[in-house]
Amino acid sequence: MTGPALFCAGVPVDMGERIGRGGEGEVYAIAGVPSRAIKLYLKPDAAHEAKVRAMIAAQLADKCTSVAFPLQLVSAADGRFAGFTMRRVTESEPIFELFASGSRRERFPRADWAFLVRTATNIARVVAQVHAEGAVIGDINSAGFLVSQQATVTLIDADSFQVAGHRCRVGMPEYTPAELQSRRFDEVDRTIDHDAFGLAVMIFQLLALGRHPHAGVRGGRSIPLETAITQGRFAYSLIRQMGSTPPPHCLTLHDLPLGIRTLFERAFALRMGPRPTAAEWVNELILLEAGLARCPGNPAHRIPDLSAPCPWCRIERELGRSLYPPLTADASATQSVRTDLHHEVARVVRLARDHAGETVQPMWRRSDVVPSKAATGQLLDGGQQSALPPPVADPLRSDRSSLRPKVCRTARRDPGCGRQGAGSVAHRAWYLGDQHPGRDAAARSSQPRSAEGRQARSTGAGDTAGCCRGGGPDHA
Ligand SMILES: Nc1ncnc2c1ncn2[C@@H]1O[C@H](COP(=O)(O)OP(=O)(O)O)[C@@H](O)[C@H]1O
Ligand SMILES: [Mg+2]
Ligand SMILES: [Zn+2]
Repeated sequence: MTGPALFCAGVPVDMGERIGRGGEGEVYAIAGVPSRAIKLYLKPDAAHEAKVRAMIAAQLADKCTSVAFPLQLVSAADGRFAGFTMRRVTESEPIFELFASGSRRERFPRADWAFLVRTATNIARVVAQVHAEGAVIGDINSAGFLVSQQATVTLIDADSFQVAGHRCRVGMPEYTPAELQSRRFDEVDRTIDHDAFGLAVMIFQLLALGRHPHAGVRGGRSIPLETAITQGRFAYSLIRQMGSTPPPHCLTLHDLPLGIRTLFERAFALRMGPRPTAAEWVNELILLEAGLARCPGNPAHRIPDLSAPCPWCRIERELGRSLYPPLTADASATQSVRTDLHHEVARVVRLARDHAGETVQPMWRRSDVVPSKAATGQLLDGGQQSALPPPVADPLRSDRSSLRPKVCRTARRDPGCGRQGAGSVAHRAWYLGDQHPGRDAAARSSQPRSAEGRQARSTGAGDTAGCCRGGGPDHA
């Protein structure tokens, strides 16, 4: 490719095709070096250069292997700083493609809920790895985590992190905690606890069909997301009445094990001490995955608690469509004896419940599921990610470029997009507060405020935004 002459450690660099563009720079392939990419700043300045130099000097690329930290400086022909080289991420998709079932089915055809749980664990591992090196991500967002078909995660845009006193100057409102809403990011020292909010939001979105934890409804109207975050309105809370309720057709905290539920309550409470750390999430998510069972009614549904009704059966019934790919013959054949036993116990527990009209918990609940030493050792080892087995090649997907972030323009322009009718029976099932949100309750969130010209990639409406994700002319 022709373009301005660039040099890396005094050697000319042959730039390849452009593979991405963000608010601060453009990312290019390097001809003949498939494992590396170059980021060129649109307006390189002294602050960019000082931070990139600090990251290279600290050898963060070697220490955090799941993060595309700068490797070498790149300069223009006149010697001025232009950007840096980094590891190139391939065969991966931005995490927001996993949120709604439509894009998930298209980009991750075999992703069931176990895949989403594993991805959440690996995200937490990457964040723990960054924090262990004394860095803060700052701008946690759903375009920065790239996920492979094995559920492994790579974090990009590392030059925006806060490292060694060099601030992170950007952020996305939906991943920004209450105490930083409306603040100028370039004037704030970010902390690990700020990151913990963004991490918890992303884990919630992965587990709960892309819904933002603060995208709630009050008096039949949706609450702007930034207002809801500022006021600590965690719409799903079971321990605080925040005056807002979750939108319909979604997972509730009742559907999750106590350990995960508690972490969400801590992460989204106002002034309740430090939020859960990335390491705490890793351990709890390992437990969640270890305890997953298959729904007796539909084995494609992975569920945390066999003694309770399957949340996916409920939501699919309400939505009138399936959320997860059907189980393949191979996977059906390998269903474990333990799962059969779980089914039997669940059946007996259900009978007991029906008979007594009480909540009876089976003996094998979460507290009995202890992660293996190997599993917890992965975190102590420096957060090694665990990969799922590679998928069988799909010839239909082979010609698609690996990284194509999509932005749903409809969701940002049309305030009615994401609206759900509030079917009365189903509606009552998820409704937790005093006020009924009304028939016109909208599941949509606010339109996220863009930061430094960045486009919002997540609406918070998750799977209820299915109406705008059908690939019509408005979809990039
Ligand atoms: N290491 C990488 N490997 C592959 N693609 C990348 C890499 N880094 C960035 N990209 C692509 O370039 C886009 C912009 O990069 P990013 O660092 O987010 O830019 P900015 O900081 O300017 O917002 C990303 O959304 C992604 O598509
Ligand atoms: Mg950036
Ligand atoms: Zn089910």
